[in-house]
Amino acid sequence: MKNLGKAIMLIIGGFVFSMGCNYTGHFSKSSSEKGLKDYYKNYFPIGVAVNIHNIAGKQGALILKEFNSVTPENDMKMGPIHPAPNFYNWGNADSIVDFAVRNHLKIRGHNLCWHQQTPGWLFVDKEGKTVSKDTLLGRLRSHIFTVVNRYKHAVYAWDVVNEAISDDSTELLRNSKWYQICGEDFIDSAFCYAHEADPNAQLFYNDYNVIRPEKRKRVYRLLKGLLAKGIPVTGIGIQAHWSIYEPTKEELVSTIKLFASLGLKIQFTEVDISIFPWEKNQRAKKPNENDEYSMALKAKQASEYKMVFDIFRKYKEYINGVTFWNVSDKDTWLDHYPVEGRKNYPLLFDTSLQRKPVYWDVVKF
Ligand code: GLA
Repeated sequence: MKNLGKAIMLIIGGFVFSMGCNYTGHFSKSSSEKGLKDYYKNYFPIGVAVNIHNIAGKQGALILKEFNSVTPENDMKMGPIHPAPNFYNWGNADSIVDFAVRNHLKIRGHNLCWHQQTPGWLFVDKEGKTVSKDTLLGRLRSHIFTVVNRYKHAVYAWDVVNEAISDDSTELLRNSKWYQICGEDFIDSAFCYAHEADPNAQLFYNDYNVIRPEKRKRVYRLLKGLLAKGIPVTGIGIQAHWSIYEPTKEELVSTIKLFASLGLKIQFTEVDISIFPWEKNQRAKKPNENDEYSMALKAKQASEYKMVFDIFRKYKEYINGVTFWNVSDKDTWLDHYPVEGRKNYPLLFDTSLQRKPVYWDVVKF
């Protein structure tokens, strides 16, 4: 009996031991399944722009594994969320906020004042005549108060003004309806309203091509002027819709240093690295245009991603957030812009939601 007992113990022991081995294997597998957010836990939050289709099923699981911050891609913009003067369309934004709060993700609000995706009623009165500056600022104030207040418990940072700098290098501000009706005051006012509505929120000015020296100079001028007037700006959102051709390391480093010198926080708010050069204007796909994701393009993209994240980590004291624009190559806005139907591969997850080889260039350090 004693021997039988021993034998049983040995068998059980062997089983447990082999379970232990399996367990060890499983353990190392799960630790290799740390997400982006875990690799970057001593650096900055890693976010992703989402729509309501992303926050369930496999994409929802991927988001929870890899990211610790979200930005609603479209659902907090003025057009979608405030389509009629006395009507707010909260449904989608509420769902994203609920998902994030339930799962302890940070939320960046995007955005409070932009020249695109505005509702049709915003700039005109009942007769269709352009409204006065006072009326427009009143509408902006009421919009900002309503939206910021609703999400005060959850949103820690807002892109307050988006893309106000002109594409024309000879002028500072874009000739938008906001600018035509209010002059530069719409920017000051938007920040003041947002600060009044939530004094604890971090408030960002957000724009694209900020790493380009010429545009960077004008963004700097704007922000320096705002700070000199005491406007409550916490930081700059550098969109980071980049490509395998830009930015250079020097452009990126000098941009970080320049805005840090103003005492501003820096967030990279809309990161993707296109396999095509930047183009502003939309155009049709050319008949012979090749959108193959070749080995050469993959290698160039990998070295760009590696360089960019090496620099982000090096300058982490100035950077308090990095957000990717869309979840995976399955569904990226760059499949439609600037060329409708030209496939792009700008993100770290492939069309089947799997980590791409370039993922490892970002997390191995
Ligand atoms: C800009 C805006 C974003 C989004 C992208 C394109 O960068 O800030 O909200 O519209 O363009 O998807």
